[in-house]
Amino acid sequence: MDQKPPEKDQLTQWNAVYETNRDFFGASPSELGERALKLFHKEGTRKVLELGCGQGRDTWLFVKEGLKVTAVDYSRSGICQMQGVADSVCCSDDVNLLILDGRQPFPFPDACFDAVYSHMFFTMELTEKDIAAILAECLRVLRPGGINIYSVRNDHDPHFGKGPHKGEDMWQNPMGFVVHFFSEEKVRRLAKGYQVEIVSEFEDTSPPFTKKLYEVVLRKPRV
Ligand SMILES: C[S@@+](CC[C@H](N)C(=O)[O-])C[C@H]1O[C@@H](n2cnc3c(N)ncnc32)[C@H](O)[C@@H]1O
Repeated sequence: MDQKPPEKDQLTQWNAVYETNRDFFGASPSELGERALKLFHKEGTRKVLELGCGQGRDTWLFVKEGLKVTAVDYSRSGICQMQGVADSVCCSDDVNLLILDGRQPFPFPDACFDAVYSHMFFTMELTEKDIAAILAECLRVLRPGGINIYSVRNDHDPHFGKGPHKGEDMWQNPMGFVVHFFSEEKVRRLAKGYQVEIVSEFEDTSPPFTKKLYEVVLRKPRV
């Protein structure tokens, strides 16, 4: 009988690609990471929570610039590779690495971070309900006036609406990753409790292919 092989779940896929490629998204920091760093300097940011840090291309940029970063990802492979780098480069005091599914309540007290950062994390296989709950957790752990910078694939992206449909605005790309695509309206609708400062389109040319994204900057109100 002709049977299709079982589909890998998304976590298994992330672990597999990180195990076979030490720099899946390239060895350099992302453009979003570079822009975020400038904003962090301008804002006087010291403590950052990074969600879905992957193999740490942006984490190391922030750490090298003197920020204290708590970086989380549910991929054990990514976090273990990063722990190896932290231990060998002696920056373990500046970075706190955690294997954590972002859908779980965050194990951090209220108002303990100056900023939350994530590049292409909210654009993963997360429902709108999951995303709203995670954004609310980000709001809880941000100090008043703190910023939440994130990126998501948008509805002008070449993969939007292509491949097997996985519910809501999610489609599976040719590599097997399920991607959640955002309209600008969705970004603004999900920003409950925040002031929306920036929603702007950009292209990320890092491997494995060019992506169209929204850069989003939200601020926790000061009062
Ligand atoms: C598109 S990659 C981006 C990685 C990194 N931010 C970068 O740009 O190099 C998305 C990351 O989110 C992580 N991720 C996906 N779903 C997650 C979840 N529910 N909880 C925690 N991490 C998750 C994946 O393991 C992966 O490392």
